Amino acid sequence: MMAFQQGDGSVGKVAELSVIVPVFNEAENVGLLVGLVADALQDVAWELIFVDDNSPDGTAERVKAIASKDPRVRCIRRVGRRGLSGASIEGILASSALYVAVMDGDLQHDERILVRMLALIRATGTDLVIATREREGHAITGLSGKRSLVSDFGRFLSRLVIKSEVKDPMSGFFMIRRELVEAAAPKLATEGFKILADLLATADRPLVIRETPYVFRERQHGESKLDARVAFDYMGFLLHHLTGRLVPIRFFLFGLVGASGVVVHLLALKAALAGLPAYGFDVAQTLATFVAMLSNFLLNNGLTYRDRRISGWALVPGFLIFAASCSIGVIANVGLARLIFSEGQQWWVAGLAGALTGAVFNYVTSGLLVWRKKS
Ligand code: GDD
Ligand code: MN
Repeated sequence: MMAFQQGDGSVGKVAELSVIVPVFNEAENVGLLVGLVADALQDVAWELIFVDDNSPDGTAERVKAIASKDPRVRCIRRVGRRGLSGASIEGILASSALYVAVMDGDLQHDERILVRMLALIRATGTDLVIATREREGHAITGLSGKRSLVSDFGRFLSRLVIKSEVKDPMSGFFMIRRELVEAAAPKLATEGFKILADLLATADRPLVIRETPYVFRERQHGESKLDARVAFDYMGFLLHHLTGRLVPIRFFLFGLVGASGVVVHLLALKAALAGLPAYGFDVAQTLATFVAMLSNFLLNNGLTYRDRRISGWALVPGFLIFAASCSIGVIANVGLARLIFSEGQQWWVAGLAGALTGAVFNYVTSGLLVWRKKS
Protein backbone atom coordinates (compact mmCIF):
# COMPACT_ATOMS: atom_id res chain seq x y z
CA MET A 1 0.00 0.00 0.00
CA MET A 2 1.18 3.41 -0.78
CA ALA A 3 1.18 5.82 2.12
CA PHE A 4 0.06 9.37 1.48
CA GLN A 5 1.66 12.16 3.38
CA GLN A 6 -1.01 14.72 4.01
CA GLY A 7 -0.06 16.32 7.29
CA ASP A 8 -3.52 17.67 7.97
CA GLY A 9 -5.02 14.89 9.99
CA SER A 10 -7.41 13.97 7.22
CA VAL A 11 -5.63 10.77 6.20
CA GLY A 12 -8.17 8.07 5.61
CA LYS A 13 -11.03 10.37 6.52
CA VAL A 14 -14.00 10.67 4.24
CA ALA A 15 -14.29 14.21 2.89
CA GLU A 16 -16.79 16.43 4.66
CA LEU A 17 -16.39 19.08 2.00
CA SER A 18 -15.88 18.68 -1.73
CA VAL A 19 -14.63 21.78 -3.48
CA ILE A 20 -15.75 21.64 -7.10
CA VAL A 21 -13.64 23.65 -9.51
CA PRO A 22 -14.80 24.01 -13.11
CA VAL A 23 -11.79 24.74 -15.28
CA PHE A 24 -11.13 25.59 -18.86
CA ASN A 25 -7.60 26.60 -19.86
CA GLU A 26 -6.37 27.13 -16.32
CA ALA A 27 -3.14 25.11 -16.54
CA GLU A 28 -1.14 27.85 -14.84
CA ASN A 29 -3.60 28.15 -11.98
CA VAL A 30 -4.53 24.65 -10.87
CA GLY A 31 -1.30 23.83 -9.06
CA LEU A 32 -1.37 27.12 -7.16
CA LEU A 33 -5.00 26.58 -6.26
CA VAL A 34 -4.39 23.14 -4.76
CA GLY A 35 -1.67 24.61 -2.54
CA LEU A 36 -3.84 27.52 -1.44
CA VAL A 37 -6.85 25.33 -0.66
CA ALA A 38 -4.70 22.86 1.27
CA ASP A 39 -3.35 25.75 3.36
CA ALA A 40 -6.78 27.23 3.91
CA LEU A 41 -8.43 23.99 4.99
CA GLN A 42 -5.82 22.65 7.39
CA ASP A 43 -8.19 21.01 9.85
CA VAL A 44 -10.91 20.00 7.45
CA ALA A 45 -11.40 16.70 5.64
CA TRP A 46 -11.70 18.08 2.14
CA GLU A 47 -11.31 16.99 -1.45
CA LEU A 48 -10.91 18.98 -4.64
CA ILE A 49 -12.75 17.92 -7.78
CA PHE A 50 -11.64 19.71 -10.92
CA VAL A 51 -13.98 19.44 -13.88
CA ASP A 52 -12.14 20.16 -17.09
CA ASP A 53 -13.80 20.43 -20.49
CA ASN A 54 -10.86 19.00 -22.37
CA SER A 55 -8.88 22.24 -22.28
CA PRO A 56 -6.35 22.47 -25.10
CA ASP A 57 -3.74 23.93 -22.72
CA GLY A 58 -3.38 20.66 -20.84
CA THR A 59 -5.19 21.64 -17.65
CA ALA A 60 -6.39 18.07 -17.09
CA GLU A 61 -2.87 16.64 -17.33
CA ARG A 62 -1.67 19.13 -14.74
CA VAL A 63 -4.47 18.20 -12.36
CA LYS A 64 -3.94 14.49 -12.90
CA ALA A 65 -0.23 14.84 -12.19
CA ILE A 66 -1.15 16.37 -8.83
CA ALA A 67 -3.91 13.81 -8.25
CA SER A 68 -1.48 10.95 -8.79
CA LYS A 69 0.36 12.13 -5.68
CA ASP A 70 -2.51 13.48 -3.61
CA PRO A 71 -5.70 11.41 -3.24
CA ARG A 72 -7.66 14.48 -2.14
CA VAL A 73 -7.46 15.82 -5.67
CA ARG A 74 -9.42 14.43 -8.60
CA CYS A 75 -10.06 15.40 -12.17
CA ILE A 76 -13.14 14.82 -14.24
CA ARG A 77 -12.24 15.33 -17.88
CA ARG A 78 -15.27 15.86 -20.09
CA VAL A 79 -14.94 15.60 -23.83
CA GLY A 80 -17.24 17.11 -26.44
CA ARG A 81 -18.93 19.37 -23.93
CA ARG A 82 -18.59 22.92 -22.71
CA GLY A 83 -20.22 24.90 -19.97
CA LEU A 84 -19.55 26.19 -16.52
CA SER A 85 -22.93 25.12 -15.08
CA GLY A 86 -22.87 21.64 -16.51
CA ALA A 87 -19.31 21.10 -15.34
CA SER A 88 -20.13 22.30 -11.84
CA ILE A 89 -23.18 20.05 -11.61
CA GLU A 90 -21.23 17.04 -12.79
CA GLY A 91 -18.55 17.71 -10.20
CA ILE A 92 -21.11 18.00 -7.44
CA LEU A 93 -22.77 14.77 -8.51
CA ALA A 94 -19.42 13.01 -8.36
CA SER A 95 -19.09 13.92 -4.68
CA SER A 96 -20.39 12.01 -1.69
CA ALA A 97 -19.49 14.64 0.87
CA LEU A 98 -22.06 16.32 3.08
CA TYR A 99 -21.19 19.75 1.72
CA VAL A 100 -20.01 20.94 -1.66
CA ALA A 101 -18.52 24.26 -2.64
CA VAL A 102 -18.25 25.60 -6.18
CA MET A 103 -15.29 27.84 -6.80
CA ASP A 104 -13.50 29.26 -9.83
CA GLY A 105 -10.15 27.77 -10.77
CA ASP A 106 -8.48 31.06 -11.67
CA LEU A 107 -7.64 32.22 -8.12
CA GLN A 108 -10.17 35.08 -8.30
CA HIS A 109 -12.18 33.54 -5.49
CA ASP A 110 -10.58 33.87 -2.08
CA GLU A 111 -10.11 30.31 -0.80
CA ARG A 112 -9.40 31.64 2.70
CA ILE A 113 -13.10 32.18 3.31
CA LEU A 114 -13.91 28.52 2.72
CA VAL A 115 -13.41 27.89 6.43
CA ARG A 116 -15.88 30.63 7.34
CA MET A 117 -18.35 29.28 4.79
CA LEU A 118 -17.99 25.81 6.23
CA ALA A 119 -18.59 27.09 9.77
CA LEU A 120 -21.74 28.85 8.56
CA ILE A 121 -23.14 25.86 6.74
CA ARG A 122 -22.41 23.50 9.61
CA ALA A 123 -24.71 25.63 11.74
CA THR A 124 -28.05 23.93 12.09
CA GLY A 125 -30.51 24.70 9.39
CA THR A 126 -28.26 26.49 6.92
CA ASP A 127 -28.71 25.20 3.39
CA LEU A 128 -26.53 27.52 1.38
CA VAL A 129 -23.71 29.97 1.94
CA ILE A 130 -23.01 32.49 -0.80
CA ALA A 131 -19.70 34.29 -1.04
CA THR A 132 -20.54 37.81 -2.11
CA ARG A 133 -18.01 40.00 -3.87
CA GLU A 134 -17.24 43.08 -1.88
CA ARG A 135 -14.83 45.95 -2.26
CA GLU A 136 -13.99 48.25 0.65
CA GLY A 137 -17.15 47.39 2.45
CA HIS A 138 -19.45 47.80 -0.54
CA ALA A 139 -20.97 44.95 -2.41
CA ILE A 140 -19.75 45.20 -5.97
CA THR A 141 -21.42 43.97 -9.05
CA GLY A 142 -18.13 42.33 -9.89
CA LEU A 143 -16.51 41.95 -13.24
CA SER A 144 -15.31 44.73 -15.42
CA GLY A 145 -17.23 47.97 -15.89
CA LYS A 146 -18.98 46.94 -19.09
CA ARG A 147 -20.47 43.93 -17.43
CA SER A 148 -21.59 45.67 -14.24
CA LEU A 149 -24.54 47.34 -15.96
CA VAL A 150 -25.62 43.97 -17.27
CA SER A 151 -25.16 42.64 -13.79
CA ASP A 152 -27.37 45.33 -12.24
CA PHE A 153 -30.10 44.75 -14.79
CA GLY A 154 -29.72 41.03 -14.25
CA ARG A 155 -30.11 41.49 -10.53
CA PHE A 156 -33.32 43.44 -11.07
CA LEU A 157 -34.78 40.84 -13.41
CA SER A 158 -33.65 37.95 -11.30
CA ARG A 159 -35.92 39.12 -8.48
CA LEU A 160 -38.71 37.94 -10.74
CA VAL A 161 -37.58 34.34 -10.77
CA ILE A 162 -35.48 33.96 -7.66
CA LYS A 163 -37.61 33.66 -4.61
CA SER A 164 -34.88 34.44 -2.13
CA GLU A 165 -33.51 37.87 -1.34
CA VAL A 166 -29.80 37.53 -2.01
CA LYS A 167 -27.17 40.17 -2.77
CA ASP A 168 -25.34 38.29 -5.47
CA PRO A 169 -27.33 35.58 -7.22
CA MET A 170 -24.71 35.55 -9.99
CA SER A 171 -21.91 34.56 -7.65
CA GLY A 172 -19.85 31.66 -8.86
CA PHE A 173 -18.64 30.97 -5.32
CA PHE A 174 -20.92 29.21 -2.86
CA MET A 175 -21.27 26.24 -0.56
CA ILE A 176 -24.37 24.08 -0.32
CA ARG A 177 -25.63 20.86 1.23
CA ARG A 178 -25.03 18.29 -1.47
CA GLU A 179 -28.42 16.63 -1.01
CA LEU A 180 -30.13 19.82 -2.22
CA VAL A 181 -28.29 19.70 -5.52
CA GLU A 182 -28.89 15.97 -5.85
CA ALA A 183 -32.61 16.64 -5.57
CA ALA A 184 -32.61 19.60 -7.96
CA ALA A 185 -30.20 18.09 -10.52
CA PRO A 186 -32.77 16.81 -13.03
CA LYS A 187 -34.26 20.30 -13.29
CA LEU A 188 -31.05 22.27 -13.55
CA ALA A 189 -29.88 23.70 -16.86
CA THR A 190 -26.46 22.54 -17.93
CA GLU A 191 -26.06 25.35 -20.43
CA GLY A 192 -24.81 28.74 -19.38
CA PHE A 193 -23.07 29.71 -16.19
CA LYS A 194 -25.82 30.73 -13.80
CA ILE A 195 -25.73 27.68 -11.60
CA LEU A 196 -26.41 29.51 -8.34
CA ALA A 197 -29.29 31.53 -9.78
CA ASP A 198 -30.68 28.32 -11.25
CA LEU A 199 -30.47 26.55 -7.90
CA LEU A 200 -32.27 29.45 -6.25
CA ALA A 201 -34.99 29.50 -8.90
CA THR A 202 -35.45 25.74 -8.86
CA ALA A 203 -35.55 25.12 -5.10
CA ASP A 204 -38.99 23.89 -4.14
CA ARG A 205 -38.79 25.36 -0.67
CA PRO A 206 -37.29 28.62 0.54
CA LEU A 207 -33.65 27.95 1.34
CA VAL A 208 -31.94 29.10 4.49
CA ILE A 209 -29.16 31.25 3.10
CA ARG A 210 -26.18 32.97 4.63
CA GLU A 211 -23.99 35.41 2.74
CA THR A 212 -20.42 36.23 3.46
CA PRO A 213 -18.25 38.87 1.78
CA TYR A 214 -14.88 38.48 0.16
CA VAL A 215 -12.70 40.51 -2.17
CA PHE A 216 -12.75 39.32 -5.76
CA ARG A 217 -9.14 39.07 -6.91
CA GLU A 218 -7.62 40.07 -10.21
CA ARG A 219 -6.85 37.26 -12.57
CA GLN A 220 -3.10 36.57 -12.87
CA HIS A 221 -2.94 33.79 -15.45
CA GLY A 222 -5.15 32.92 -18.39
CA GLU A 223 -8.26 34.82 -19.38
CA SER A 224 -11.97 35.04 -18.62
CA LYS A 225 -14.23 32.81 -20.67
CA LEU A 226 -17.37 34.76 -19.95
CA ASP A 227 -18.12 37.54 -22.41
CA ALA A 228 -20.99 39.74 -23.54
CA ARG A 229 -22.88 36.67 -24.71
CA VAL A 230 -23.60 35.74 -21.11
CA ALA A 231 -26.10 38.61 -21.02
CA PHE A 232 -28.17 36.82 -23.67
CA ASP A 233 -27.82 33.57 -21.80
CA TYR A 234 -29.14 35.32 -18.77
CA MET A 235 -32.19 36.66 -20.58
CA GLY A 236 -32.79 33.14 -21.81
CA PHE A 237 -32.43 31.87 -18.28
CA LEU A 238 -35.06 34.32 -17.02
CA LEU A 239 -37.47 33.47 -19.84
CA HIS A 240 -36.92 29.80 -19.05
CA HIS A 241 -37.95 30.26 -15.43
CA LEU A 242 -40.70 32.78 -16.09
CA THR A 243 -42.36 30.17 -18.30
CA GLY A 244 -42.07 27.44 -15.71
CA ARG A 245 -39.05 25.96 -17.54
CA LEU A 246 -41.14 25.47 -20.68
CA VAL A 247 -39.07 27.63 -23.02
CA PRO A 248 -35.50 26.33 -23.28
CA ILE A 249 -32.72 28.78 -22.37
CA ARG A 250 -31.32 28.72 -25.87
CA PHE A 251 -34.61 29.64 -27.48
CA PHE A 252 -34.20 33.29 -26.53
CA LEU A 253 -31.01 33.63 -28.56
CA PHE A 254 -32.42 31.51 -31.35
CA GLY A 255 -35.40 33.87 -31.54
CA LEU A 256 -33.17 36.94 -31.53
CA VAL A 257 -31.09 35.50 -34.33
CA GLY A 258 -34.29 34.79 -36.25
CA ALA A 259 -35.40 38.40 -35.78
CA SER A 260 -32.02 39.63 -36.96
CA GLY A 261 -32.54 37.47 -40.05
CA VAL A 262 -35.54 39.57 -41.02
CA VAL A 263 -33.39 42.69 -40.95
CA VAL A 264 -30.61 40.98 -42.91
CA HIS A 265 -33.17 39.80 -45.41
CA LEU A 266 -34.52 43.28 -46.04
CA LEU A 267 -31.04 44.77 -46.36
CA ALA A 268 -29.96 42.04 -48.76
CA LEU A 269 -33.14 42.46 -50.77
CA LYS A 270 -32.54 46.18 -51.08
CA ALA A 271 -28.95 45.59 -52.12
CA ALA A 272 -29.91 42.93 -54.67
CA LEU A 273 -32.63 45.06 -56.20
CA ALA A 274 -30.22 47.97 -56.50
CA GLY A 275 -27.21 45.94 -57.61
CA LEU A 276 -28.84 43.44 -59.95
CA PRO A 277 -31.88 45.28 -61.34
CA ALA A 278 -31.85 43.20 -64.52
CA TYR A 279 -32.74 39.99 -62.67
CA GLY A 280 -36.01 41.21 -61.21
CA PHE A 281 -37.68 40.85 -57.86
CA ASP A 282 -37.93 37.06 -57.64
CA VAL A 283 -34.21 36.53 -58.03
CA ALA A 284 -33.47 39.30 -55.54
CA GLN A 285 -35.92 37.84 -53.04
CA THR A 286 -34.43 34.35 -53.43
CA LEU A 287 -30.96 35.72 -53.00
CA ALA A 288 -31.99 37.66 -49.91
CA THR A 289 -33.58 34.56 -48.41
CA PHE A 290 -30.36 32.68 -48.95
CA VAL A 291 -28.26 35.43 -47.39
CA ALA A 292 -30.58 35.63 -44.37
CA MET A 293 -30.45 31.86 -43.86
CA LEU A 294 -26.67 31.92 -44.08
CA SER A 295 -26.50 34.77 -41.59
CA ASN A 296 -28.86 32.96 -39.21
CA PHE A 297 -26.87 29.78 -39.56
CA LEU A 298 -23.56 31.46 -38.75
CA LEU A 299 -24.99 33.46 -35.85
CA ASN A 300 -26.61 30.39 -34.33
CA ASN A 301 -23.39 28.49 -34.77
CA GLY A 302 -21.37 31.21 -33.07
CA LEU A 303 -23.85 32.26 -30.40
CA THR A 304 -26.85 30.05 -29.74
CA TYR A 305 -24.95 26.81 -30.13
CA ARG A 306 -21.44 28.00 -29.44
CA ASP A 307 -20.91 25.09 -27.05
CA ARG A 308 -21.70 22.68 -29.89
CA ARG A 309 -20.18 24.82 -32.60
CA ILE A 310 -19.31 23.13 -35.87
CA SER A 311 -16.31 24.20 -37.88
CA GLY A 312 -14.34 23.48 -41.05
CA TRP A 313 -15.93 21.47 -43.79
CA ALA A 314 -18.72 20.29 -41.50
CA LEU A 315 -20.17 23.78 -41.95
CA VAL A 316 -21.23 22.90 -45.50
CA PRO A 317 -23.54 19.97 -44.75
CA GLY A 318 -24.56 21.78 -41.57
CA PHE A 319 -25.76 24.77 -43.55
CA LEU A 320 -27.53 22.63 -46.14
CA ILE A 321 -29.44 20.75 -43.46
CA PHE A 322 -30.23 24.00 -41.68
CA ALA A 323 -31.53 25.57 -44.90
CA ALA A 324 -33.59 22.48 -45.72
CA SER A 325 -35.19 22.32 -42.28
CA CYS A 326 -35.90 26.05 -42.32
CA SER A 327 -37.65 25.64 -45.65
CA ILE A 328 -39.93 23.05 -44.11
CA GLY A 329 -40.41 25.48 -41.22
CA VAL A 330 -41.67 28.05 -43.72
CA ILE A 331 -44.27 25.58 -44.98
CA ALA A 332 -45.45 24.92 -41.41
CA ASN A 333 -45.49 28.65 -40.74
CA VAL A 334 -47.50 29.61 -43.82
CA GLY A 335 -49.84 26.65 -43.49
CA LEU A 336 -50.79 27.46 -39.93
CA ALA A 337 -51.05 31.20 -40.54
CA ARG A 338 -53.36 30.63 -43.50
CA LEU A 339 -55.55 28.30 -41.44
CA ILE A 340 -55.85 30.79 -38.58
CA PHE A 341 -56.47 33.68 -40.97
CA SER A 342 -59.22 31.75 -42.77
CA GLU A 343 -60.90 31.21 -39.39
CA GLY A 344 -61.46 34.96 -39.36
CA GLN A 345 -58.63 35.99 -37.03
CA GLN A 346 -56.76 39.29 -37.36
CA TRP A 347 -53.96 39.23 -39.93
CA TRP A 348 -51.30 39.87 -37.27
CA VAL A 349 -52.56 37.12 -34.98
CA ALA A 350 -52.33 34.66 -37.86
CA GLY A 351 -48.94 36.03 -38.89
CA LEU A 352 -47.53 35.88 -35.38
CA ALA A 353 -48.82 32.37 -34.73
CA GLY A 354 -47.32 31.19 -38.00
CA ALA A 355 -43.97 32.85 -37.34
CA LEU A 356 -43.81 31.42 -33.83
CA THR A 357 -44.65 27.95 -35.06
CA GLY A 358 -41.98 28.22 -37.73
CA ALA A 359 -39.44 29.36 -35.13
CA VAL A 360 -40.27 26.49 -32.80
CA PHE A 361 -40.11 24.05 -35.68
CA ASN A 362 -36.74 25.40 -36.79
CA TYR A 363 -35.46 25.36 -33.25
CA VAL A 364 -36.40 21.76 -32.71
CA THR A 365 -35.16 20.45 -36.04
CA SER A 366 -31.91 22.38 -36.05
CA GLY A 367 -31.18 21.25 -32.50
CA LEU A 368 -31.79 17.66 -33.55
CA LEU A 369 -30.17 17.69 -36.97
CA VAL A 370 -27.54 20.38 -37.08
CA TRP A 371 -26.31 21.09 -33.55
CA ARG A 372 -26.86 17.66 -32.09
CA LYS A 373 -25.88 17.13 -28.51
CA LYS A 374 -22.74 15.06 -28.56
CA SER A 375 -22.87 12.06 -26.31
N1 GDD B 1 -15.29 23.11 -17.20
C1 GDD B 1 -15.50 24.37 -17.63
N2 GDD B 1 -16.17 24.55 -18.80
N3 GDD B 1 -15.05 25.41 -16.91
C2 GDD B 1 -15.28 26.65 -17.38
C3 GDD B 1 -15.97 26.92 -18.58
C4 GDD B 1 -16.43 25.79 -19.32
O1 GDD B 1 -17.04 25.91 -20.38
N4 GDD B 1 -16.03 28.26 -18.75
C5 GDD B 1 -15.39 28.81 -17.72
N5 GDD B 1 -14.93 27.85 -16.89
C6 GDD B 1 -14.19 28.00 -15.62
C7 GDD B 1 -12.97 28.88 -15.71
O2 GDD B 1 -11.82 28.14 -16.08
C8 GDD B 1 -12.88 29.39 -14.29
O3 GDD B 1 -12.28 28.46 -13.45
C9 GDD B 1 -14.34 29.54 -13.89
O4 GDD B 1 -15.07 28.65 -14.72
C10 GDD B 1 -14.87 30.97 -14.05
O5 GDD B 1 -14.68 31.37 -15.38
P1 GDD B 1 -14.13 32.82 -15.75
O6 GDD B 1 -14.04 32.85 -17.23
O7 GDD B 1 -12.91 33.15 -14.97
O8 GDD B 1 -15.36 33.70 -15.27
P2 GDD B 1 -15.37 35.20 -14.79
O9 GDD B 1 -14.27 35.46 -13.80
O10 GDD B 1 -15.42 36.09 -15.97
O11 GDD B 1 -16.80 35.24 -14.05
C11 GDD B 1 -16.94 34.98 -12.68
O12 GDD B 1 -17.85 35.89 -12.19
C12 GDD B 1 -19.17 35.70 -12.68
C13 GDD B 1 -20.05 36.85 -12.34
O13 GDD B 1 -20.40 36.89 -11.05
C14 GDD B 1 -17.44 33.55 -12.38
O14 GDD B 1 -17.29 33.31 -10.99
C15 GDD B 1 -18.87 33.31 -12.72
O15 GDD B 1 -19.30 32.06 -12.20
C16 GDD B 1 -19.69 34.41 -12.10
O16 GDD B 1 -21.06 34.23 -12.39
MN1 MN C 1 -12.56 34.46 -13.44
